[in-house]
Amino acid sequence: MRTKKIIRAGLATLGIAAMAAMSGCADDGGSAGGEAAGSGSETIAIGFSQVGAESGWRAANTKDIQDTLTEENGFKLSFSDAQQKQENQIQALRSYIAQGVDVLAFSPVVETGWDAVLQEAKNANIPVILTDRAVDTTDDSLYVSFIGSDFVDEGKRAGDWVVENLGDDLKVVELQGTTGSAPAIDRKEGFGKAIEGTDIEIIDSQTGDFTRAGGKQVMEGFLNSHDDIDLVFAHNDDMGLGAIEAIEAAGKKPGEDIKIVTIDAVKDGMQALVDGKINYIVECNPLLGEDLAEIAKKVVAGESVEKRIVVEDAAFTQEEAAKVLADRTY
Ligand code: AHR
Repeated sequence: MRTKKIIRAGLATLGIAAMAAMSGCADDGGSAGGEAAGSGSETIAIGFSQVGAESGWRAANTKDIQDTLTEENGFKLSFSDAQQKQENQIQALRSYIAQGVDVLAFSPVVETGWDAVLQEAKNANIPVILTDRAVDTTDDSLYVSFIGSDFVDEGKRAGDWVVENLGDDLKVVELQGTTGSAPAIDRKEGFGKAIEGTDIEIIDSQTGDFTRAGGKQVMEGFLNSHDDIDLVFAHNDDMGLGAIEAIEAAGKKPGEDIKIVTIDAVKDGMQALVDGKINYIVECNPLLGEDLAEIAKKVVAGESVEKRIVVEDAAFTQEEAAKVLADRTY
């Protein structure tokens, strides 16, 4: 499925075709570089460092990237899982630089701390494409393009639905994503904007690290500390699903006694929405492989690429989820 794009930043012509081709010219002895990449018909060697396997969303994103960056599609993909650790990602990126890949791509675990390794890639003339999550850097020339959702908007849409449908006087607990990650920072900001000026109060907020187990554990703590929770705002479906387990174990009905709003819209989350245990989900589209392939091919060919590609996300009520669940592929 082709993701719809909204181009926010202007085109930048990249004079890197020759550089990428050079990086792909190393011999087979340990080099990941494709032969004469940039000629338009040769294999592109791409090193991809994934965040981890923390959620259903991440599994769908990994599958899409691996299914798209195939040899038939002109790629030699080197893939690594950082297990949600920045040091593992930096190590993987350095290894790909040393191998002389044509293109580096990664979804950063956290926003900050990337300048040194990105500068190393730049010095080696290897273009970097960010997928899913942004980096916080003062030098935008350290990457060529960023493909992913608008996380602030996702949080805002979740908060807007709450204000419009559940009222403006609620006690909320927030299950945050990984501390320091772009989606955790931005979704919190967006939700906060939506509830500004209302009597909706976030009475507790902790990280569940985007995992189901983390969401369950943190929610158990919230339930022990607060007997007046109206709503859980979970930064992803998996933490919301963990919260459901904790709420049920405490003898309450998720979706009724305590409302739940989440982000992602993966199949398990959508099923819980249809079952009435979640009240609303804002989608985060994980299908980034096709845009990544297109941008990588353009970059290697020395063509202009969009600096920012915002992926379009839907949102679902319980009724809307029931209509699409059977056809949901992830
Ligand atoms: O960066 C995207 C977020 O990361 C997804 O919402 C979450 O499920 C994943 O772990």
